[in-house]
Amino acid sequence: MDSDLKNDAQDLLIRYGGDAFPNLFRSAKGSIVIDSNGREILDFTSGQMCATLGHNHPAITRAIKESCDTALHMFSGMIPEPVVKLAKALADWLPSPLRKSLLLSTGSESNEAALRLAKLATGGYEVIALGGSWHGTTGGSAAATFASDRRGYGPKVPGNHMIPEPNAYRCPIDHCRDSCDMSCLNVGLKMFDMASDGAPAAIIAEPVISAGGVIVPPAGYFDCLRDAAQQRGMLLIFDEAQTAFGRVGASCSAAKLEVAPDIMTLSKTLGGGLPLAATVTSPDIEDRAHTAGFTFYTSHVSDPLPASVGLAVLQTIQEEDLVARAIRMGNYLTERLRDLQQQHESIGDIRGEGLLLGVELVTDRETRQPFHQLGAVTTERCFELGLSMNIRRRPERGAVWRIAPPLTVTTEEIDLAITILDQALVEGLETLTGRK
Ligand SMILES: Cc1ncc(COP(=O)(O)O)c(C=O)c1O
Repeated sequence: MDSDLKNDAQDLLIRYGGDAFPNLFRSAKGSIVIDSNGREILDFTSGQMCATLGHNHPAITRAIKESCDTALHMFSGMIPEPVVKLAKALADWLPSPLRKSLLLSTGSESNEAALRLAKLATGGYEVIALGGSWHGTTGGSAAATFASDRRGYGPKVPGNHMIPEPNAYRCPIDHCRDSCDMSCLNVGLKMFDMASDGAPAAIIAEPVISAGGVIVPPAGYFDCLRDAAQQRGMLLIFDEAQTAFGRVGASCSAAKLEVAPDIMTLSKTLGGGLPLAATVTSPDIEDRAHTAGFTFYTSHVSDPLPASVGLAVLQTIQEEDLVARAIRMGNYLTERLRDLQQQHESIGDIRGEGLLLGVELVTDRETRQPFHQLGAVTTERCFELGLSMNIRRRPERGAVWRIAPPLTVTTEEIDLAITILDQALVEGLETLTGRK
C-alpha cells in the first residue's frame, strides 16, 4: 500500500523543486512529523516555516471545527464576522500607522497586493528589492525575488532593481568582513538612481533575509532604508512572512526595529499551517490606492475559515506567552549551537534572531569557502537520524542550515537535535574525507 502510493507519487505529481524526502508522511503533532512507516522526525523547519505553534495545535483544530459549524467560504463581496475581528486584532498587534488589512491566502499574493497598492498610491512602478530576497513565485513577487532561480521563465515585470544584501559574513561587494558598514546599500541605491526611469514606487525587504541565508542586516540598516524610500517618494514594504508573531522574539520585526513600514505583508506565521496572508497599510495609503481604483478580488479574499484560524493563532501566542518563549528557546538553541561550533571547524557562522537561526558551513574558517557537499550529506544524515532540517545552498551565498523549530519546542527536543547534528557532522566529514 505504502509502496503503491510512493509509486503513484512519482507517477502523478509534478516535481516542484526543493529537496524531496524518500518517504510519504502521515501525521504531525507539536514539533514532530510522522512518516508512513510510523517513524517520528523532529521538524526543525516548522513545516514550511508556518507551524509556529507546533503542528495541529488544539486551538487551531478547534477554530477549524467551529468554522465547520458556521462558514468556510463566502462570496468575496460579503465580509464575514471573523474577518473584521482579525483585522481588529492585527491593528492592535501591529505598530502604527498599520491599521487596514486585506486578508488573502499566500505570501506571494500578499506581496502582489502590497506592490499593487504601492504602485497606485505613488503612481510609479519601480521596485527595489534586496539580493537573496524571497517574496514569492507569482509575477510581481517573483520579479522582486532574488534568492530563487530566475532563469528560464522569460522577462520579469519591468522596473525591478536589486541592491546587494547586507551580508557581513559574505559581503556581496567584497568590501566588509564581519561588520557591515552599509556600503552595499549606498552602492545599490546609487545604481538604482542611475538606472531609474523616474517612476519609483516601493522598496520591499524581509527584516531577516531568510531564504538568502538567514542574514540579519546591521543596526540602523532599516532606518536608512526608511530614509531612502522617503527621499525617493517610495513606500517601504516589510515582508514579515517569517518574522512576525513571535518567531524573532518580538511581536514583529518592525516593532523590534522601531521602524514603521508603509505596508507590511504577513503570511506563514499568521496561518499556523493554513493558507492565510494579510497585506496591512495605513488609512492614508489605503485611501490613496482606493481613490486610484485599487482592486485585488480573489476567490478566497476575506474567507471566514482562515480568518478564524488567524485569530486563534494570535490568541494562542498571547495566552502561551510564545514571544518570550521564542527568546528563551532561541538563546538556549544558540548556546547549544555555539558549543557545537567549538567542536566543528566546519561551522563558520551562527546568526539569526529568536528562533530563526542560520548556521553556515565552510571548509575552513579563514577562507570561508562554502562547504556545500557537507551541507548536503549532513542534512540527509540528520533526516535518517530523525531530524528534518533545511539547507540553503546557493553557490555565491554559501551553505546555510536554516533552523526554525516551532516556538513551542522544548529543551529536550533541542538537546536531541543537537546530538543528531553533532553525529551528522562527524559522520558527514568522515564520508567526504574517506576517513572511515
Ligand atoms: C519572506 C517570504 N515572503 C513571501 C513568501 C511567499 O509565500 P508563499 O509561498 O506563501 O506564496 C515566502 C515563502 O517562502 C517568504 O519566505
